[in-house]
Amino acid sequence: MPEDIPLARPDLGEREEEVVLEVLRSGRLSLGPWLERFEREFAAWLGVSDAVAVSSGTAGLHLGVRALGWGPGDEVITSPFSFIASANCLTYEDAKPVFCDIDPVTLNLDAEAARAAVGERTAGLLPVDILGYPAAAPAMAEIASAFGLGILQDACEALGAVDSEGVRVGAQGFTATFAFYANKQLTTGEGGMIVPADAAAASRFRSERNQGRTPDMGWVDHERLGFNYRLTDLQAAIGVAQLERADDLLAERARVAVAYTERLGQAGGTVAGEGDDAGLVLPCADRGSERRSWFVYAVRLPRGADRDAVVADLSQRGVQAKAYMPCIHLLQPYRERFAHRPGEFPVAEDASDRLLALPFFTGMTEGQVERCCEALEEALQGDWT
Ligand SMILES: Cc1ncc(COP(=O)(O)O)c(C=O)c1O
Repeated sequence: MPEDIPLARPDLGEREEEVVLEVLRSGRLSLGPWLERFEREFAAWLGVSDAVAVSSGTAGLHLGVRALGWGPGDEVITSPFSFIASANCLTYEDAKPVFCDIDPVTLNLDAEAARAAVGERTAGLLPVDILGYPAAAPAMAEIASAFGLGILQDACEALGAVDSEGVRVGAQGFTATFAFYANKQLTTGEGGMIVPADAAAASRFRSERNQGRTPDMGWVDHERLGFNYRLTDLQAAIGVAQLERADDLLAERARVAVAYTERLGQAGGTVAGEGDDAGLVLPCADRGSERRSWFVYAVRLPRGADRDAVVADLSQRGVQAKAYMPCIHLLQPYRERFAHRPGEFPVAEDASDRLLALPFFTGMTEGQVERCCEALEEALQGDWT
């Protein structure tokens, strides 16, 4: 029996080992030169003037919510089809996430639904670039300026994505957050990066991530409430090493995605938005100037397929796949707190019920892609349409 094919695998090499050793030997493990270097090189790579490293994407989102001033009584429009962190960051500050349905093709927050949801208490928009596909940023910017709203971009899954105006996600002028968990396009094990809207926000983020200390880091001088959201220099060094080959890592992920789409297309899968969506639906193609940054490769199973059975069947065949992912409004904390119920957001719920993430990582061979697709075909017993 060949080895199991994992769902995800970080791409770490000699350079990551070398820089981690260098940090260890330097004796400076936190708030040292690698942190500054990671921030500087990340900002340069993205094409922005500054970036602030934090301990996770969630920490970044939380600081973003605070900087935008969202709190009790404020409502923020966001997607129910996301990782729970994009709503939790609002809940931490007692702002209310107001969910809207998503676009059936891109699976991102539907701009028209978002516009229709704007009400008296709306303070902002929190679009998510889900599965690495760029959210409709220009439309969000237009809604925000029409109604005087703030924007916090959850770009945690979308490092390297490009929007419909050809601008890199995160460099569009709104506060944006990236995440570097081990399955992300670029990893530091755990970690995140906030792109501040301006220099004042950057300084606030640097203070708040470090227990509210003054920028000169006076040991006991705390000028505001803060958190311990620091990224260590060990993590920052891994980030620097990953950043050196970020373009290659992204291209490699795109190669694997193309191989999946070709193979599953030949087997009867339909690319989202290009035909009937009742059968096996593959991730949408890039539209216009938009470019997806490949985070995971997730397909929608044919309507009526038993996803749990498919996951179990694939696992027996050595293919690790995962249901991806529950709608936030139906998760216990949100169901309870805001009395949400099934049926409120049919497009998001349909995607959430059907999506399956297949093994996806750099270095995945054509043979491994073939094995995963064959196993999926068999698990679905040839029922592709
Ligand atoms: C859409 C989205 N938002 C936020 C996060 C939170 O990032 P982290 O796990 O680094 O806190 C993630 C990470 O999985 C994510 O996918």
